[in-house]
Formats: sequence, C-alpha cells, structure tokens
Amino acid sequence: HPNLIHMFNGIPFTTRSSTDLLRSLDTFQAREDDLLLVSYPKSGTHWLAEIIKNLYDSKVTLTSPLEFGELSKLEEMKNLPSRRIIPTHLSYNMLPHDLKAKKCKSIYIVRNPKDTAVSLYHYYRDNPNLPTIEAWPAYFNMFMQGEVVCGSWFDHILGWEEHKNDGTILILYYESMKKNLPKSIQKICSFLGLSISDQEINEVSRMSSFNEMKNNVEKENHDPNHTVCALTSNRKLIFRKGAVGDWKNHFSSKQNRLFDEVYKSKMESSALARRIRYE
Ligand code: A3P
Repeated sequence: HPNLIHMFNGIPFTTRSSTDLLRSLDTFQAREDDLLLVSYPKSGTHWLAEIIKNLYDSKVTLTSPLEFGELSKLEEMKNLPSRRIIPTHLSYNMLPHDLKAKKCKSIYIVRNPKDTAVSLYHYYRDNPNLPTIEAWPAYFNMFMQGEVVCGSWFDHILGWEEHKNDGTILILYYESMKKNLPKSIQKICSFLGLSISDQEINEVSRMSSFNEMKNNVEKENHDPNHTVCALTSNRKLIFRKGAVGDWKNHFSSKQNRLFDEVYKSKMESSALARRIRYE
C-alpha cells in the first residue's frame, strides 16, 4: 500500500504523517506546561481529550496530533497559545527530546489489547486513510506481528512503561474509566493540580459519556484541526460501540489461546499489564 502507508523507524505510519515531519520531530520546541495525551490507537484517546477539554472549560488549546501533517506543522505549533494539550500515538523513543528535557506531563491511556485489536480492525474497515484489509483471521495475525499502523501494541506499552516512574506520567485504564469515571477524573485532577467540586466532576462525566459524545458528533462539522487521532479527520469514525469485552464476539478460542500465550511471554515483566482488566 505505497500510497497510504510508509515505514519510519521500522513502524508503519500513514502518509498523513509526512516523512519530513517525522524526521524533524526532534527539533520540536516544548513548553514546560505542555500536556501530552498518549495512546496506542483505539484506546480511548478521544474520550480522554473530551474529559480534559471539559475540565479546563476550553481555556486550553487542544492541538492536532503531534505526528500529523507536514513539516510546517512544527512552525504552526509555535503559534498556538498555551496551555497546549497535545495528543500523540508516538512510541516513547520517538518522542521529541525537548518534551523529555522539560519534563512535560503525559497522560497515557491503555485498554485491554483484545478490545483494542477489535476496535482497530473496524477502524481499518471504515477509515479510508488505512489500507484495505482481509477478514478478521488475517488481520488478527497482522496485529499479533505488530504489522498494523503504529506498530506493535506490546512494544508501545513496554516502551512507555519503562518511564512510568519518572513522575511525569499518569496511566489511565479504559476499563476502570468505564467502571467509575468520576474516580478516574479525580485522578486526572490530582495529577494536573486542578481542584474541582464533586458536582463539577459529575457534570464532566456526563458530558464525556459515550452517548453524549456520539450524539454531539452527529451535529458537528468536521474540522481537521480537531481530531486527536493522526489517522483520520472524521470524528464520525470514532464512536462505534464504546464497550468492554467486544473481543469475545471476534476471537476464536484458538486465537484467544494464542493471544494469551503471547501476552504472557511478552508482558511477563510488566506491572502495568497485570493491572489491565484483561478478561
Ligand atoms: P470501539 O471501536 O470499541 O467502539 P480512540 O479515541 O483512541 O480512537 O479510541 C476509540 C475507541 O474508544 C472506540 O472503541 C470508541 O467507541 C471508544 N470511545 C470513544 N468515546 C468513548 C466514551 N466516551 N466512552 C467509552 N468509549 C469511548
């Protein structure tokens, strides 16, 4: 798929991330108060972004994804007012140096990889920016091999997890958010030093529910500057089911066994993986 996907640093990117931009990412100039929203695709990035937006009551600048666009992107970022909230699917080792040097905060959202795999499968089917794929069994193998856009889920997690004790990263779990959103929002507030009443937290929870977001998107016009996933400008593609456990409708028992084996061996050393509600 030469016109949709290109390889950079061994990772498949869509052509929406230009080689020039990817090559120059390290010259990105960070600001101390930049906040990164980090995820492997389909982990709940838009949900997290909506919560942040509501918490700050639009007094912040939600930028387009760091890796999205042409070289001119870096110049455009300079003109945006603070505080910049910057979404990204980049692996830790591709993150611009200055963001690390200035100790910018990151929120990393992680989701059961089986549900993430299923969500990405449907994204491949619906998103014209991604290559046509074959049926689920072939896609499943691609996912396991890390031959999907943004590379291996396992590597993404492990790379970021190495830095979880730097004191600048908050890790959120999609399944915990589904279970108790106000509690997750409370965690975000403590991490960001925001003080906010229980009533406001409940209001933010309500405004960022799946149904609320899905209904709102039907009314919006697409603004390419307002997607938080580098793989699309079409928010309508994002809100599919928003459920936990949809993998059970896709995985065969053999695929499930294989996945569990790979997970066990690859994630053996991962404390983060043990906290994912995996069933
Ligand atoms: P599904 O495809 O399983 O429905 P991202 O924003 O990282 O692209 O992730 C998209 C996934 O998050 C989709 O999963 C989408 O439905 C789900 N999602 C989006 N908003 C949500 C919300 N408010 N609550 C729960 N899930 C949400």
